[in-house]
Amino acid sequence: MLEHLIPSRRNPPGEEPIFALNAEALKRRASGEQVVNATLGALTDDTGRIVIHETIRELWKELTPEEVAPYAPLLGDPTYLKAMVQRYWPKLESPGAACATPGGSGALALSARSFLEPGMAILTAAPYWGPYNLFAAEAGCQIVEAPYKTADQPLDLDAWSQAAETLMNQQGRLLVWLNDPCQNPTGLSLNHADREGILELLAQQALRGPVVLLLDSAYLDYTADPAHVRDALDQYAAFAETGPVLIGAALSISKSMTMYGARGGALAFPWCQDPTLTTALGLECRGLWSAAPKAAQALVIRLAQDGHRQERLNAELRHWSEVLESRAMALDSALRTEGLTGAAWHGGFFVTLRVHEPSAVTESLRAQGVFVVPVSTGIRVGICSLRAADAPRFARALKNLG
Ligand SMILES: Cc1ncc(COP(=O)(O)O)c(C=O)c1O
Repeated sequence: MLEHLIPSRRNPPGEEPIFALNAEALKRRASGEQVVNATLGALTDDTGRIVIHETIRELWKELTPEEVAPYAPLLGDPTYLKAMVQRYWPKLESPGAACATPGGSGALALSARSFLEPGMAILTAAPYWGPYNLFAAEAGCQIVEAPYKTADQPLDLDAWSQAAETLMNQQGRLLVWLNDPCQNPTGLSLNHADREGILELLAQQALRGPVVLLLDSAYLDYTADPAHVRDALDQYAAFAETGPVLIGAALSISKSMTMYGARGGALAFPWCQDPTLTTALGLECRGLWSAAPKAAQALVIRLAQDGHRQERLNAELRHWSEVLESRAMALDSALRTEGLTGAAWHGGFFVTLRVHEPSAVTESLRAQGVFVVPVSTGIRVGICSLRAADAPRFARALKNLG
């Protein structure tokens, strides 16, 4: 046992037991059992094979050794950074203060180190993606929660206001991580009024101290309603242009381009040109990973220069959004058939079904060969890997809990 070699570290609460669940699901499937594995966080087709968008496959194959092997610039290739922000805000002419990161994970982790002191906390919406706890803990920080919305209720802005006020009182600054639209794990998005409320209360806090709002954009390419996503992005941009809050985005090619392993991401503050922030980001990058992977940057640059491929990728994203929507609808209808509450979905790879005692429900489902991830308010179901045909079995297993 090597415990004595490893300095004692914070053990972040609420971390998903996802690796163990996924490993067991794979083992039981390999031994011939018909399992339903809804723990995965990658898009798979109905045969269980990982989806890699055709456009991206082609671009990847075209990369030359010179686009892969050299170090990328420490802050990332400026053309890459611009292309990353323009995917979501096409009118932007500059990425602003920005750096390339290994995935959106790198961007989130870097933001905690850049904007907070150890001992401080990040405000986010609960339930949230489990690794947020780790990214915070690695910066010596923790997570403070305010509730995310539920399918039939507006956002609880009083709770958000209170949480923001208390944190500002305690630490004199705020960093907020907001995974909107298309949140993991709920599969829901805020509506215009929810967003307006959050932005207003953050603007209030910005009169008292620095406020940074980081939009975690991991899933917003997969949506039932692209116009809604566009509205959300425009709303954030309009606020960023005028508001006293520093708005940034944790960008990623993992889900949007199905390039999880290429580790392409960026932390960008497109509405801020302050060189002090750019320098701070550059130093953090150097200290943490030197330079982010070059191949991912080369791929995004090639895509940005090829309008035809962009159109094809957008068509692939629409297609898989429709597949996700049909899986969510199949689950919703199967749950209702069993007399259970349905599953609301606006976008992303997951839905969360509200249950009491999420861990106990997860265990009971596991005993029936159905694998999900417990989160604070319920169970997370990966519709990215749940076939519509498995929805009735899933619903029956949930009904069988008694
Ligand atoms: C909510 C959320 N944010 C960010 C990420 C970042 O992913 P990556 O680091 O692969 O870009 C993920 C990945 O699962 C996620 O679920």
